[in-house]
Formats: sequence, C-alpha cells, structure tokens
Amino acid sequence: MSRTAVLVSCAELPSGDGDEDAVVSALSALGFSVSWAPWDSDYDFAAADAVILRATWDYASRRTEFLSWCESVPSLFNPADVVRWNTDKSYLVELLDAGLAVVPTSLVPPGSPAAFPTSDYVVKPSVGAGSRGAARFAAGADAASHVAALHAEGHTALVQPYQSSVDSEGELSLVYLGGVFSHGFTKSAILGSTLDASGLYLSEELAPASPPADAVALAEDALDAASALLGILRAELLYARVDVVRGADGKPLLLELELTEPSLGFRQADEGAAMRFASAVRQQLA
Ligand SMILES: Nc1ncnc2c1ncn2[C@@H]1O[C@H](COP(=O)(O)OP(=O)(O)O)[C@@H](O)[C@H]1O
Ligand SMILES: [Mg+2]
Repeated sequence: MSRTAVLVSCAELPSGDGDEDAVVSALSALGFSVSWAPWDSDYDFAAADAVILRATWDYASRRTEFLSWCESVPSLFNPADVVRWNTDKSYLVELLDAGLAVVPTSLVPPGSPAAFPTSDYVVKPSVGAGSRGAARFAAGADAASHVAALHAEGHTALVQPYQSSVDSEGELSLVYLGGVFSHGFTKSAILGSTLDASGLYLSEELAPASPPADAVALAEDALDAASALLGILRAELLYARVDVVRGADGKPLLLELELTEPSLGFRQADEGAAMRFASAVRQQLA
C-alpha cells in the first residue's frame, strides 16, 4: 500500500508557490501518494503518514490556533515542539546565550521600555514571517511608535542593529535535510530606507550559491545548538534553513534559523536536492 504525504499550505497559497514541484515528483517516485492541503482545511491530517509544513504563511496572526493544530497532527514535520520554539524569534536570544554568533538581538515585550542602538537598526515582531512588520530606522531615529504599534497587536518587539551587508551581499541561506547540508542560495533584497513588508518581499531575488566554509561552520553550530536546546538529534529535523549575514567585521552572523515553513530554494538547487528531501522524509518515517 502506498504511503501518503501531504504538503501543508495556507488558503491564500493552497499549492505553494511552485518551488516544491520537484519535491512532489520525487516523493511520488519514492512511493508516496502526495497532495497539498491548507492547515485550516478539513483534510484528514491524522490519517496521513507524513504531514509536511511547507507554505503556512498565515500562521503569524493566528499562532495559538496554528500551534494547537500542530499538536493535533500525529506525524508532523517538523514536530510541533520544534514549531512552537521556532515561530517566536526569541529563540535568537537563547542561541546568543548559548554562545552562537547571532545578530545582536534585544526583546521588548509589551509594557517594557525600548532602548535603541546608536547605529541604524531594525524593529520587527518576534512572531512574524515574510518581513511583515519589519522596519528599518536610521541612527538616532525614534522607533517608539513602531514598537507601540507592535505591542498594540500583542507582539513582543525585537530590536537589532541593521546589518548593512544585506544591501551589498544579501543573505545567505543554507538548507539542511535530515540534519545534513544539502544546498545553498543567496537572497538579495534591494532595500530602500524602509523594510516595508510588501515592497521588501517583492524585491527578493534568489540565486544558487556555494556557501563559504565560515558560513557552513556557523550553520553547523546553529543546528547543533538548536538541537541541544530542543533536546533532539539534528537528524530529527526534516528540514532547516540557516540564514546568515556578515557583520561589520566580515564574520558571519545568524539572522534566522527557519524550522517551520521556509522557502527551501529547490528551483535554485541541483537536481538531486528534491530527491534528498524525499529520501529524508523516508528516513523520518523509518
Ligand atoms: N538586523 C537586520 N539587518 C539587516 N536586514 C535585516 C535585519 N533584520 C531583518 N532584515 C531584513 O528583513 C528581512 C526579514 O527579516 P527576518 O528576520 O528574516 O524575518 P522574516 O523573514 O521571518 O520576516 C530580512 O530578510 C532582511 O532583508
Ligand atoms: Mg527571513
């Protein structure tokens, strides 16, 4: 009997954005019957052998509901505990405290006063995706009203110095499948002075990249540190995307560790990447 794999999406993008087409073929070739379903649809997720979060972009405004749905799914990848930890960027502070090279990050929960860096800086919600609610401020500018707006929506605000290497080199994403490095790509955002949600999202351009050794070393450390904090083996992560930027001194810094529904850049990767993903799904079920 063939096994079922469902790629989980959201109502706005029920079959993803096309990046996983090769993954669907690879899973089919390995004997899965594959379909897409939005997480909040009436699809019978409990009956599927593998339920794979891929395009659930709308969770940020409904995180509590989304997490309880995750907990109701017996065979979820990545697992619900991982998703709970990873959908709040406060994990960056935990990784920083664990000694990892992370973009300096401070949290401003509702009710707390904010202090801003003396350089250009970014304020973004601790729960957010697709750059929504992220804004860039010039050195000396006062972001108090942006922080207040995030607080009014119930968010904790996250404050970071702006890493200007994003303008010149963009972000480097390293994709791991089953805990093993698979491929890399760069994401260049041609930024104006404001990281306005839609504008930024639209201006993203992905290109294949072979990550330099220092970025790989940081990504490896990030996966080990996250796995230790989560109490799992990194092989238990079906996928992970490690987003790296360079600090002012040229050294790589972690900007984001995506374990929930990242773009994995299959269109930018070698042909084998989709099959490595399908194989990693088999490994999770073995
Ligand atoms: N500290 C920062 N320095 C420079 N650019 C940033 C910084 N934080 C965020 N950005 C820009 O905003 C985008 C979105 O922020 P990110 O932390 O990746 O959140 P998400 O992708 O979950 O919305 C990044 O891709 C990057 O272009
Ligand atoms: Mg990001």
